[in-house]
Amino acid sequence: MSGKDGRGLVPRSVRITGWGHYAPERVLTNADLEKLVDTSDDWIRSRTGIRERRVAAPHETTATLAAIAGKRAIAVAGLDPQEIDLILVGTLTPDYWMPSTAALVKEAIGNTRAAAFDVMAACSGFVYAYATADAYIRSGMYRHVLVIGAELLTRFLDFSDRNTCILFGDGAGAVVVSASDEEGGGLAGMEMTTDPDGAYMIWLPSGGSKSPPSAETVRRGEHYVRMEGKETYRYATKTLATSALTAISRAGWDPAEVDLFIPHQANIRIIESVAKGLDMSMDKMFVNVDRYGNTSAASVGIALAEAVDFGRVKVGDKIVFVAFGAGFTSGAAAVEWTADPANGRRAASVAPAASVRAPVDWDSVDPMPARLTAVLNDRGGPPVPLDDVVPGEPEHAHRKVPA
Ligand code: UT7
Repeated sequence: MSGKDGRGLVPRSVRITGWGHYAPERVLTNADLEKLVDTSDDWIRSRTGIRERRVAAPHETTATLAAIAGKRAIAVAGLDPQEIDLILVGTLTPDYWMPSTAALVKEAIGNTRAAAFDVMAACSGFVYAYATADAYIRSGMYRHVLVIGAELLTRFLDFSDRNTCILFGDGAGAVVVSASDEEGGGLAGMEMTTDPDGAYMIWLPSGGSKSPPSAETVRRGEHYVRMEGKETYRYATKTLATSALTAISRAGWDPAEVDLFIPHQANIRIIESVAKGLDMSMDKMFVNVDRYGNTSAASVGIALAEAVDFGRVKVGDKIVFVAFGAGFTSGAAAVEWTADPANGRRAASVAPAASVRAPVDWDSVDPMPARLTAVLNDRGGPPVPLDDVVPGEPEHAHRKVPA
């Protein structure tokens, strides 16, 4: 591959060259949740494997979390943000309905030339966005694509609903996907499915065109995530295994050859059941659901970055990302790892304290659910880091619209 920017030329391979993640500092423990709903640490741990999850600070947004993870992935890839041609953000908790969160990330990371859009496939968003990046690069259209999964779920949870509020947390995970002149490696097999039978199993009823937001929809709590846990659980255990097997078979691999699975972190029992279904030992399943809970589209990206940084992945390893989520969607990618894991150290150059800033006039809306604020304030928390990378809302955003 050669020529101006490498555009229009089909690369020999498409590889992950950078990775990074960011999780907000504040921790919400099971003990905190015991103060909010009728639950217990013992129930949450034994039924889900979750011990704690992270909660974004009031000044943080999905775009700020995404920007920090994205900047870390770009640093690990050894690139300048301006070299990114396309930014994809998988999220179901965007900053706004419009513009896209990817557009906000583009400004936040200091890139003036990339195309940017969001990928909406719920918890499968990161895997779908990764497949999209691979296809764009393979076609010769782009050279470097920044793929981010980012969520700020704690602002869409009803902290009086024990079925959902114990499960989810905030965070972001990212990779840079790049064209390469070298043969082999990278994405070897892919599977994506969508089963609309599950459309109303995990959903957020109001705020869209079918049920626009109103005082009545808010009164009914329809702006919060709802979930049929048992149905979702059943679907998840089946589809994670079948999607992973399809991707592995498309790669021409035997399941026994896989070195590490990076599954969506929704529930430890789901991960154990998938391991059993695939006849794999749990040693081959990367798990961090205990520390982050379910971070939806961010989950696989955070897990991948940690797996590499914790020394669980080496050059030549066969790894499988696999996710499922609302829709129902599922996605699996069989990937041969090519990047030097030691490059992960470069992420340390991107400090979160230098990558977020309070949006202008933020006082006009308090984004934190009141019940959550009460329990967190009860316990104190880390100081809030502020700086000026992520742009705030302009003054005119808060002007009253004339009647
Ligand atoms: O990214 C995709 C998102 N979603 C998922 O992956 C979720 C998939 N589903 C699950 O992970 C599980 O279904 C849950 C963790 C949500 C629930 O676990 P479960 O083992 O399916 O529990 P269950 O709904 O069958 O409830 C068992 C009992 C019930 O009480 P009774 O009827 O047996 O007296 C529930 O009312 O546990 C009760 N319960 C709770 N108790 C304490 C339900 N939630 C809680 C809670 N704390 N938070």
